[in-house]
Amino acid sequence: MRASSLRPRVQLFVCTHVRGAEGPLRSGCGAAGPEVFATLKRATAGIAARVWVTATGCLGHCPGSGCAVVIYPHNEHLVEVIAEDAPAVLTQALGGR
Ligand code: FES
Repeated sequence: MRASSLRPRVQLFVCTHVRGAEGPLRSGCGAAGPEVFATLKRATAGIAARVWVTATGCLGHCPGSGCAVVIYPHNEHLVEVIAEDAPAVLTQALGGR
C-alpha cells in the first residue's frame, strides 16, 4: 500500500444505487442518480483535476425522490438531488469560488 499523489480538492459522491421499485425504499437513487452523475461529470470536465465526480452505491440516505450526493471533504450530505441541481451542487462544493 502507498499513498496516492492524486488528491482532488473536492470529490462528489453520487449515489446511483438501483433497488427494486416494489420495495419499501422504492427505486432508491437509481432513477435519478445516473443523470445527476452524468450532468456533474459534464459540468466538471474542465476542472476534472480539482473536482472528481464518482458514482457510488447506497450512501444511507435513500431519499424518496432524486438521489443522494455527498461532498467530500466538506461532509455535506444532499438528498433529493436532481440533474437541474448540478450548478447549485457545484457552487456549494466549491464554496462559491
Ligand atoms: S439508495 Fe441512494 S442513498 Fe440509499
